[in-house]
Amino acid sequence: MSPDNVDDTPGRGGHVAVAIDGPAASGKSSTAQWVAAELGFRHVDSGALYRATTAAALRSGVPPAEWTAAFLLTQAARVSLAPNETSFTPQVDGESVTEEIRRPDVTRGVPHVAQVPAVRTWVNAQVRAVARSHDVVCDGRDMGTAVFPDADLKVFLVADPWERARRRLIQRLSRSPTEEEIAEETDRLVQRDAADVTQTVQAKDAVLIDTTYLTQAEQVERIVALVRAARLRRPLTPWEGLPLVPPPADGSID
Ligand code: CDP
Repeated sequence: MSPDNVDDTPGRGGHVAVAIDGPAASGKSSTAQWVAAELGFRHVDSGALYRATTAAALRSGVPPAEWTAAFLLTQAARVSLAPNETSFTPQVDGESVTEEIRRPDVTRGVPHVAQVPAVRTWVNAQVRAVARSHDVVCDGRDMGTAVFPDADLKVFLVADPWERARRRLIQRLSRSPTEEEIAEETDRLVQRDAADVTQTVQAKDAVLIDTTYLTQAEQVERIVALVRAARLRRPLTPWEGLPLVPPPADGSID
């Protein structure tokens, strides 16, 4: 996909969209990936698109102070999403950047890139384009507000900053972090929360889940149950099955 050939027409052609938003390291991506696998949907990580655009800009060698909206859109045009079994692999110039986008310089730069309206419009168009041809679980900051105001289910994940820092470090270091390491990471997360505050928006109709005392399996189970419930409440269309309320036996219609 590139900004030129993206299909951003409204509607999703009957496809389901689940929006999972929340602050940094609240477990959105890993949860969204798992929920998608449980439901047979595709996971779309909108943060990976912001990160890949930032990685492309860093690769260009142009100093961050000189990044204009036009320059960043040129970098976004180098970004693509390659479908894999359950999700999409972010690429720059056709090369996977899965590892590169987690580098500290990308993490430091991404909130600034994500504040550029033209970049947000581009990312949102990519995410909507995928949702036109797949049932999706999308995670980010504004999936339930800016991207899918009509999502079938919206979830907003939160967790205590110390716990978010602890989890992020375990993921990154593959060992138990020290108290000092957790304290430093908590500071970094709180700073990123502040930098991202304008784009992190809980939709009024989102289900708030505090995951501080939940295992990942528990939060996935809750969201999968919520998706199933939300879908059942949706009125069935005639070609999907019988009407929920059978017609009266005497044939009268009131
Ligand atoms: O996983 P983590 O929450 O640390 O970050 P991410 O989801 O990979 O997102 C990286 C950055 O992209 C965030 O810090 C935001 O600045 C930005 N972002 C955004 O503004 N809107 C989104 N829908 C997703 C990410």
